[in-house]
Amino acid sequence: HRHCHRTRTGAAALLAVLAVLAGGCAGATGVRGAPGAAGLRDPYFPKLGNGGYDVRHYALSLAYDPDTGRLDGTAEITARATQDLSAFNLDLSGLAVGAARVDGAPAAHNRAGNELTVRPREEIRKGAEFRATVTYAGVPERITDADGSEEGWLRDADGGVVAVGEPAGSATWFPGNHHPSDKAAYDISLTVPAGTDAFSNGVRTERRTEPDGRVTTVWHTPEPMASYLATVMIGRYETGTATALGTVPVLTAAEPEVAARTAALRAEIPELLARQERRFGPYPFSAAGAVVTEDGTLGYALETQTRPVFPASSFDRTTLAHELAHQWFGNSVSPATWRDLWLNEGFATYAEWLYAEEYGGVPARTAFERAFAQEANWAFPPAAPPTAANLFAPPVYQRGAMVLHKLRETVGDGTFDSILRGWPEKYRHANASTADFTAYAEEIAGKDLDGLWDVWLYGDGRPERP
Ligand code: ARG
Ligand code: ZN
Repeated sequence: HRHCHRTRTGAAALLAVLAVLAGGCAGATGVRGAPGAAGLRDPYFPKLGNGGYDVRHYALSLAYDPDTGRLDGTAEITARATQDLSAFNLDLSGLAVGAARVDGAPAAHNRAGNELTVRPREEIRKGAEFRATVTYAGVPERITDADGSEEGWLRDADGGVVAVGEPAGSATWFPGNHHPSDKAAYDISLTVPAGTDAFSNGVRTERRTEPDGRVTTVWHTPEPMASYLATVMIGRYETGTATALGTVPVLTAAEPEVAARTAALRAEIPELLARQERRFGPYPFSAAGAVVTEDGTLGYALETQTRPVFPASSFDRTTLAHELAHQWFGNSVSPATWRDLWLNEGFATYAEWLYAEEYGGVPARTAFERAFAQEANWAFPPAAPPTAANLFAPPVYQRGAMVLHKLRETVGDGTFDSILRGWPEKYRHANASTADFTAYAEEIAGKDLDGLWDVWLYGDGRPERP
């Protein structure tokens, strides 16, 4: 075992601190472990996520003051080491770290940009489960993405908050392994002033009044969740409840200004989920719902797990079908890297086409031809966005859906239906890559589909004929 933090005095203490900052450990003997990697080498965000461990569970306790915008947080992260670890990183954007502990013992910590390095007193052995506790505080920031859209901790004029994190914004409100390949269960506790409402993912398991009058709610997500799908909404909301699929509790919330005009569509969620279950197989989560905010704070809808969020102007049946479809495609089957995002957006867009086909009388072939005709959809192949600024661009959505429609025309409706149901079953609560998908489709089709992928998935430019 290493003992990096024995009490030292004078020059020895200074040397030890310098050694820690340099990534070493003065005076260590019997060193086996190494620091976990600072990133997972995602093709678009190489520093996102961290190596050396796999998070099992996040327990986040967050207290928020809408008047000052200050967040006080404690993150208790239960993880399993995947190597002998002398130190490990967490991703955190902004905020000030108070203290770090590992298995209850104080741990050294050091911040460089969005990387928080935690160095436990004792090395963590490969395979061991450990608990890292980090306390932190500050006014969380919003992030402007490469495409100009905003994510992170979005604060409105009244101090209310909508936290969204695709692809990287969740690091603005809790430290973690912020890459979709490390999914974990969550319990999120929110403490806010009386008279303010707070929501998050999953099921509310507790609601209590603190001695000082503030109100705490606790939100439980037992199924694995990628951190970009974690959410918090704080403000004034009106709620609606229902049951879907026989057993799934549905909780919707809308800001008072938009509550009345969104109530009817919010009430359609059980029916929409039942329709999608018939096409995509069993709904993967134990809670459902939606949150609708006034326009102005959030620039787009997001499929936050179990409880997608919408600006009021985007809360229409098509977008609702899209975000609900993401619960299967993206949230349960999550992308292996951000390059595989078309597996989220292509399927969710195809779910819109299926909805229009089944209930609007518009054949998917018609939607396909409309997309084929649009110049913007041919800027790049869906499985290869040139930069992070193109991740949420039309080819990922529309051309992604076109790949699925060409697959359907190639293998026939029956086989395509099997793929639509079988894919989320095979990779339920897991991660999958584009290569996993093409291999799976070929397995179910019983034939090589290289010609299809070469043209529609990987090919540059528009083919001659739709
Ligand atoms: N995944 C969202 C959708 O359902 C879009 C998220 C866009 N994120 C962003 N940072 N622009 O289409
Ligand atoms: Zn989407």
